[in-house]
Amino acid sequence: MNQNISVVGLGKLGACMLAVYASKKYSVIGVDKNLDYVNSINNGVAPVEETDLQKYITKNLKRIRATRNYTEAISKTEITFIIVPTPTDKTGGFSVEYVINACIDIGKNIKNKNKYHLVVLTSTVLPLDCHKKIIPVLEKYSGKTCGVDFGFCYSPEFIAIGSVIHNLLNPDFFLIGQFDKKSGDILESFYSTTCNNNSTIKRMSIPNAELTKISLNHFITMKITYANMLAEIADKLPSGNIDIITDAIGSDVRVGKKYLKGGLGFGGPCFPRDNRAFVYMAKKIKIKTPFAQITDNYNKSIEERMIKLILERSTHSSKIGIMGLSYKPDTGFCEESQGLNIAKKLATMGYKINAFESNGFKHAKILLGKSVNYKKNINEFVNNSDVIFLTNFDKKNQNLKKYCKKKTIIIDPWRQFSNNDFPKTILYRPIGINDLKI
Ligand SMILES: NC(=O)c1ccc[n+]([C@@H]2O[C@H](COP(=O)([O-])OP(=O)(O)OC[C@H]3O[C@@H](n4cnc5c(N)ncnc54)[C@H](O)[C@@H]3O)[C@@H](O)[C@H]2O)c1
Repeated sequence: MNQNISVVGLGKLGACMLAVYASKKYSVIGVDKNLDYVNSINNGVAPVEETDLQKYITKNLKRIRATRNYTEAISKTEITFIIVPTPTDKTGGFSVEYVINACIDIGKNIKNKNKYHLVVLTSTVLPLDCHKKIIPVLEKYSGKTCGVDFGFCYSPEFIAIGSVIHNLLNPDFFLIGQFDKKSGDILESFYSTTCNNNSTIKRMSIPNAELTKISLNHFITMKITYANMLAEIADKLPSGNIDIITDAIGSDVRVGKKYLKGGLGFGGPCFPRDNRAFVYMAKKIKIKTPFAQITDNYNKSIEERMIKLILERSTHSSKIGIMGLSYKPDTGFCEESQGLNIAKKLATMGYKINAFESNGFKHAKILLGKSVNYKKNINEFVNNSDVIFLTNFDKKNQNLKKYCKKKTIIIDPWRQFSNNDFPKTILYRPIGINDLKI
């Protein structure tokens, strides 16, 4: 192991890659345009919130450096990972503007380097972006030829916010889209030293890897949506119970239990946008992908259905408590969070909203402003709310049992409690379970 590594983009994913590779004894140079992130890392402070990130940075600081200077990063390392944003653009596809800017700087510095350099793109892009938009920029600004003077791989990571470090160290598989065999060989041998498990490595052409990344997320969103649709049916079926049904279906190894739980719709920075980008990509080549479109439409419709359920149990003067604003447990990020959207829509309709989020309100406040009452104290939140809606499947929600005393209605799309958990004054309404006898 004699390579040094650079990571371009030190945000939610890049900062974790930097820390994980340093923990595997690589010297890692991080590059970011954002001086605050650079200074933060050089001072040994995690630039973003993520489970265990601070611990990994502190422990491996002697092998970590950050800079805004590409020359230092490219000249002193052998492999560069690019993990900058690829935001959804107006058309529904992904903009590669940030990737191209990074590649201009990387290309200019490969130009002055005598040795072979491997560039690995981790940011999510669409099929053919690497060949049509990204590799040509590296060749133009380096004046060199991909596959000869430098190598290139497209290798997105399959991580979830809140467990990025764990996922990087224990991936189900590594996906390597290789420009040529040499590029893939170098990356495969690097990855074989960075994980704690025996994950498989899937090597393929770059276009296949580009399609694999968004297809996987599209498939998972379909699976989540399937369980959500069954939960809607079970809720209306006398003696229906979604958990019994998905437990049985998921026992078939062809289906599996992961992500097969009826609840609220999916959100976050990846699932919704990768699914929509799948629709966009297929449309461009005149292929209909009704599953992806229906998944997106159904997912959005869940918010309206939940609002209806909440309002059926509220009056206009009811104080509605939204427990959980983030898009999943263990993170404060609220991108495309259904809980946050529900809070926002109800507030716009004139309802008084109390919000509780155990991971803090930093991101929520940017998106919701002053439209809701942020309650830091769970006791105050619970006892000031007439109807409480539980947005996430979170073990911390169990605290409700301790605090719920007064007459309250609890609506729970995740069925985290039973009626016996609460005093008689509480009406607990689990969604996906129907108590009517046949
Ligand atoms: N966040 C996720 O859950 C997740 C999961 C899988 C894939 N991805 C993909 O990873 C990519 C990055 O996501 P993220 O959440 O880490 O983004 P982020 O916004 O948290 O961080 C990106 C960083 O890149 C920096 N940057 C932008 N342009 C730069 C440049 N030219 N040079 C140097 N630094 C530059 C920004 O300053 C920022 O710090 C996206 O393509 C996303 O689709 C994200």
